[in-house]
Amino acid sequence: MITIFFATQTGNAEESAETLLKRLTGGGLAARTKTLYDYKAGKLAEEQVAVFVVSTFGDGEPPDDAIPFHEGLQAMADGSLPGLKYAVFALGDRCYDEFCKFGRDIDAQLERLGAERLLALEECDLDQDVKLPPWADQLLPLLAEKAGAV
Ligand SMILES: Cc1cc2nc3c(=O)[nH]c(=O)nc-3n(C[C@H](O)[C@H](O)[C@H](O)COP(=O)(O)O)c2cc1C
Repeated sequence: MITIFFATQTGNAEESAETLLKRLTGGGLAARTKTLYDYKAGKLAEEQVAVFVVSTFGDGEPPDDAIPFHEGLQAMADGSLPGLKYAVFALGDRCYDEFCKFGRDIDAQLERLGAERLLALEECDLDQDVKLPPWADQLLPLLAEKAGAV
């Protein structure tokens, strides 16, 4: 099972997560979406494949709902998620100094935790609708083959 986690302030990341879900399930994969609100970072150890679709707000901050998740992730010990495969799709805006900071943080934290990155971080400059389809096209076969998630 693939879980598409999303964190949003104004709805864009949730919309992208739902679009990605349709693409993955349409491609024959078992997937679901889940909000990072109220999600304990330690529970990631129970996941096999996690795809993150997250925006950045404030001054490089996570959306409000995802701040506890972010703090929990930072508190986890190095190498504690060796079984997890992941990819991150980051929404942001280059007008801000801390471009796509939350997505970059998740990508770096999961590497520190020993998880396996399936695909390079995608950084969106308000162009998530353009960048999502080709990113999903790259991700789908990796999920199907490498993660055995069909
Ligand atoms: C008040 C405000 C602060 C923002 N801060 C950042 C930021 O620090 N870095 C960034 O890359 N984008 C920033 N953005 C842009 C958002 O990440 C972008 O609009 C994104 O599409 C919002 O997605 P969401 O609706 O899922 O929250 C900010 C937008 C607003 C309105």
